[in-house]
Parts: sequence; structure tokens; C-alpha cells
Amino acid sequence: MSKIKVDLKERSYDIQVGANNLAELGGIIEKNKWGKDVFIITDPIVNELYGDVLRQGLKNLKHCTIEVPRGERNKCLRSAASLYTKLVTHSAHRDSLIVALGGGVIGDLAGFVAATYMRGVDYLQVPTTLLAQVDAAIGGKTGVNHPRCKNMIGAFYQPKLVFSDVQTLTTLPAREICTGLAEVVKYGVIEDADFFKFLEANSKHLNTKAFASPDTLRASLKVWQIIVTESAKIKARVVKEDEREGGLRMILNFGHTIGHTLESLTQYEAYNHGEAVAIGMVAAAKIANRTTNFSAESVARLVELLEKLGLPTKVDGLPIRKVLKALEVDKKVIAGKLKFVLPEKIGKVVIKDDLSLTEIKLALKEIGCK
Ligand SMILES: NC(=O)c1ccc[n+]([C@@H]2O[C@H](COP(=O)([O-])OP(=O)(O)OC[C@H]3O[C@@H](n4cnc5c(N)ncnc54)[C@H](O)[C@@H]3O)[C@@H](O)[C@H]2O)c1
Repeated sequence: MSKIKVDLKERSYDIQVGANNLAELGGIIEKNKWGKDVFIITDPIVNELYGDVLRQGLKNLKHCTIEVPRGERNKCLRSAASLYTKLVTHSAHRDSLIVALGGGVIGDLAGFVAATYMRGVDYLQVPTTLLAQVDAAIGGKTGVNHPRCKNMIGAFYQPKLVFSDVQTLTTLPAREICTGLAEVVKYGVIEDADFFKFLEANSKHLNTKAFASPDTLRASLKVWQIIVTESAKIKARVVKEDEREGGLRMILNFGHTIGHTLESLTQYEAYNHGEAVAIGMVAAAKIANRTTNFSAESVARLVELLEKLGLPTKVDGLPIRKVLKALEVDKKVIAGKLKFVLPEKIGKVVIKDDLSLTEIKLALKEIGCK
């Protein structure tokens, strides 16, 4: 088990990463006296897979499980309201503890409910997707979607603990693994060249086939533990410097500017988040090759790694005009409007807001836009 501290003064907490450790969480809750009664918020799929293991460890504590239907569209105020009602019905109070067991949707929603129920109750993040273990569960960004805008309503509210069991990754569909891997590659590019090399060297372990036999499973769980730990360290470091996203935290948006646009232009259907971010990172790398001296060899390494991990690096003929419109890039004015996180070398990025339209257009062409 590895432990990383998210250092935020009185709001500091640990991230614990282990394999097959879910049943130990109850003991940790008891030891820390975190809640007289525990409310597990989860979805039916995760509850079916991991609810019992978690509850085994909670034998000495009063606990109750509340399910929310799975999926992004349930990360909404209606779900939050229904959770408040259930918490009131079960007499949850200021000393209760909420445990968010699931992917980023559950983490964001349960975290938001924890931030607002009775003006804030303690909560733990128990992420069960790769994306949530390396990203969503860390940093205290909680919230729900507004019908017209994603993640529009929310609060910065830090958990007491992030508790990751990499064994839970073994039941994830291949595409969910891939979407998390895009964020993992992002960490290598923005902060840590050695970590990027580690990913290149271990890419064969990073797919669902590695879970098939006991030997490959053992080897891959060791690699996953390193990956979740190292990613968590990078995210924790960035969050420590910039808890409320005033500056440095922006580097986490590497690949996301164009990535978000691709997601929304294709109605969130053609690409999931990680796939769109993967293509967005390639576009940013190509822009960087012309503007920050990011070497052609580094661009090629990035593309090769993403492809090895099963992520797309190109789009299929999306019109450049539409992408630019969605990026809100005006023909003349770009400066000060659109900020791009661009690598200078693997492990180091800069933020640029003075790109020319030509530079963006060329990169869009190179990723397959027409
Ligand atoms: N708060 C943040 O800083 C932050 C950062 C990034 C993303 N997010 C949010 O995270 C959300 C996406 O999270 P996600 O990618 O984890 O998706 P998700 O939470 O929708 O989970 C994906 C699917 O996997 C299932 N699942 C979860 N764990 C499983 C397991 N171990 N085995 C099998 N199935 C499992 C879930 O039931 C769900 O159907 C988005 O809403 C996004 O906005 C938040």
C-alpha cells in the first residue's frame, strides 16, 4: 500500500493506493473515528461488484447504502435532491460519513452532496475507475451538471481520504481503462519524463488482456499500483500549489482545449473523454512543435505511446471551420481569449495565449480535420 499526502494545511488528507484492500477501509474509518454512521453512495454496477467487500469491513459501524442510477446524465441536481431526501429519511447528521464508491460521476455527485448536506459532512472518495483513481477523486472538485452546461454547479470540498484499490480496475471495460490512460499519459507529459518512460516500457501490461491469466494479472496489478500512485502524486502536487484552480492547476488541461471541443462537436458520442483528450494532446503537441520547440521526436513518442495504449490520435474528417467556431476562435482575435497548455519537452509545459490562427489550423489539419 502506498500513501501520498495532499498537503492543504487544515484540509490535508491522504491518498492510499493498494491492491485488494477494500475490506480494510472499515478499520481505517473506525481508527480515525470518522463517522458514527456511514452512508455509502454508489451505483448499481459498482454496488453489485464491490459493495459487499466494502460492507464486510464496516461490520462494527452502522451503515446504509444508497444507489444512484449509473451514468453521466444522473450527475444532476435531481439526483442530489433525491440523495438529500434519503439522507434525511435515514437521519443522517453532522457526524455521519459519506463514502463515494464508484467512478467520477459518483465521486462528483456524492462529494457535492457531502459539501452541501447540513452545510457539509465528512466524506471519503473510494474511486473504482482508472479515471477517478488518477484524477477525479483527487483535489476536491465536486459538482453536478446543469442541463445546459457540464459541471456548472459545484463546490471545492476536500475529502478526508482517497482510498484506491487497483483490483477494482480488473472489472472495467477496455474503453474505460483507455479513457483513464489518456489522463495518465497527460501527467507524464506535463510533469514527469521518467514516468512517461515508465509508461512506454510497461504499455503491454496496460490493457484488459493483462487481467486474463493469474500471472499477467499479478504483474499488471503491480504496474497499475505504480501508475495510480505516481499519477496521484502529480495531481496532489498540482492541487497543493493551486487548490482552487487559480493558476497552475490549468496545466492539467493539457489536451483538453481541443479535446473538449471534439467531445461536444460529436455530441459526446464519437469519442469519450479520454479519447478526445488523446487527440487533443496530439494536436497540442503539433502546435508545440512549431511554437515551443517541442521536438518532432517527442511528438512521435507521444503518438506511439497513445496508439500502443489503444487511444486514437486522429479524427475522421471533422471540418476545421466547425472546430474553430466551437473553440470560439475569432478570425482576428485569439490572444487573451484562448489559452493552450503546450509541452516544451516531455515533462514540462508552458501556457500560451498568443497562438496564430494558422498554427491552430495547421495542427487541426494534421490530426485529420479538413
Ligand atoms: N472532480 C474532478 O476533478 C473530475 C476530474 C475528471 C473527471 N471528472 C468527472 O468524472 C466523470 C467521469 O468519470 P468516470 O470516467 O469514472 O465515469 P463513470 O463514473 O460514469 O463510470 C463509468 C462506468 O463504469 C462503471 N464502473 C465504475 N467502476 C467500475 C468497476 N470497477 N468495474 C466495472 N464497472 C465500473 C460505472 O458504473 C459507470 O457505468 C465525469 O462526470 C467527469 O466530469 C471529475
